[in-house]
Amino acid sequence: MKIAVASDHAGFEAKKSVLAWLEQHGHEFTDMGPYSEESVDYPDYARKVGEAVAAGQYDQGVLLCGTGIGVSIAANKVHGIRAALACNPEFATLARQHNNANVICLSARFADTETIKKSLHNWFAADFEGGRHERRVEKIEPCC
Ligand code: RB5
Repeated sequence: MKIAVASDHAGFEAKKSVLAWLEQHGHEFTDMGPYSEESVDYPDYARKVGEAVAAGQYDQGVLLCGTGIGVSIAANKVHGIRAALACNPEFATLARQHNNANVICLSARFADTETIKKSLHNWFAADFEGGRHERRVEKIEPCC
């Protein structure tokens, strides 16, 4: 499993904990930036991760910004991306089980490090359940 990770400046510090957690748990990953706390625009980084996952270069993505909202909105503009804002570990589980989400979006300003780590744990521990969820996920298509 290859993971693409990025943030904006607001998520830069929390991204360090994410990278450390991924390393500790034996995941293969690429840090797609940013590489300093200098102010950047979250859509640029969300798109990088989204395009890399959609192209099949990576299996899943992890994105962080202040709220997690901006990166989730932006990543979801990439065709084939189902980016889920995981406000807590339960959201992370359900995003995989029910939505087959392929990018997890985390809040650096409103989730503490423990919540982020538990969310990552749940995300990687959960699988898509298919069944009735398959039909629903297939219906998620750009419509206009
Ligand atoms: C940056 O200040 C902040 O707007 C951004 O990190 C994010 O929360 C946007 O959704």
